[in-house]
Amino acid sequence: MTTRPRALVTGASAGIGRNFAEHLARTGHDLVIVARREDRLRALAEELGAATQADVEVLVADLGDDVGTAAVADRIAAGGIDMLVNNAGYAARGRVAELDPDALDAMLRVNVLALSRLSAAAMKAMTAAGRGTIINIASGTVFMQVPGNAGYGSSKNYVMAFTRHMQIEAAGTGVRVQLLVPGVIATDFHEVAGNDIANFPPERVMQADDLVVASLRALEMDEPVCIPSLPEIRDWDNYVAAEALVAKNCSRDRPAARYHGA
Ligand SMILES: NC(=O)c1ccc[n+]([C@@H]2O[C@H](COP(=O)([O-])OP(=O)(O)OC[C@H]3O[C@@H](n4cnc5c(N)ncnc54)[C@H](OP(=O)(O)O)[C@@H]3O)[C@@H](O)[C@H]2O)c1
Repeated sequence: MTTRPRALVTGASAGIGRNFAEHLARTGHDLVIVARREDRLRALAEELGAATQADVEVLVADLGDDVGTAAVADRIAAGGIDMLVNNAGYAARGRVAELDPDALDAMLRVNVLALSRLSAAAMKAMTAAGRGTIINIASGTVFMQVPGNAGYGSSKNYVMAFTRHMQIEAAGTGVRVQLLVPGVIATDFHEVAGNDIANFPPERVMQADDLVVASLRALEMDEPVCIPSLPEIRDWDNYVAAEALVAKNCSRDRPAARYHGA
């Protein structure tokens, strides 16, 4: 009997996560699907089980609380997870002066803390196994500052920075780490955030299926940063090069000449 790789997908009850689950099941993976809405997870497990040969475990967990996050981290630590798709997330928006601090905390627990804990559990287990794949989902908002988006945008800046550190640490371990940077994707995300997706010009909106295909293709191509709609990957390389230029001079023994007052 051959063993099929198993992928754990968070936020698999809708949108991008559901699409990852469908693609991975069809391409020979068993699954652990995670979210809060059990009815949706069970229906998806049944559907994928019938349509593919996939064995689908349902793990109902709220990644906004420690118990739920610990249950998922424990499942990863228990072994047999070859791929983690750290996808669950949402946007709580509001200008900083008007932000509901509880809503901000709740979002950061999912977008930042849970993603970090699951990344850590997967890096540990996969490094020990000498193989594995982790996909962390940031957002194109990391490159923009928009009023009302400080909390969500910054949570995704954290995902980007954390994942880039993971990529450096994963070198030579056999673990692949992809940073996936979607633009506007046609999912329930916008409704949850209080927006109408119809407000975006259609040429800026990608289907979740196209995003997932690009992400899986980027894995095959060994492209660690997948920005699916970016025509030229050298634009990302230039962004990293500009960062390196600033970084090089961030730490010196004296302030720059313009601060030397009379
Ligand atoms: N759509 C976009 O335009 C876009 C753009 C850039 C990045 N992204 C990112 O892509 C990821 C997926 O978003 P999406 O567009 O697929 O949104 P979506 O359709 O609203 O799906 C979000 C998923 O996250 C799960 N989730 C939310 N809170 C959770 C919690 N506390 N515990 C466990 N699961 C939770 C939801 O499941 P339950 O409600 O059943 O728990 C759902 O399965 C997010 O990280 C989002 O920030 C989206």
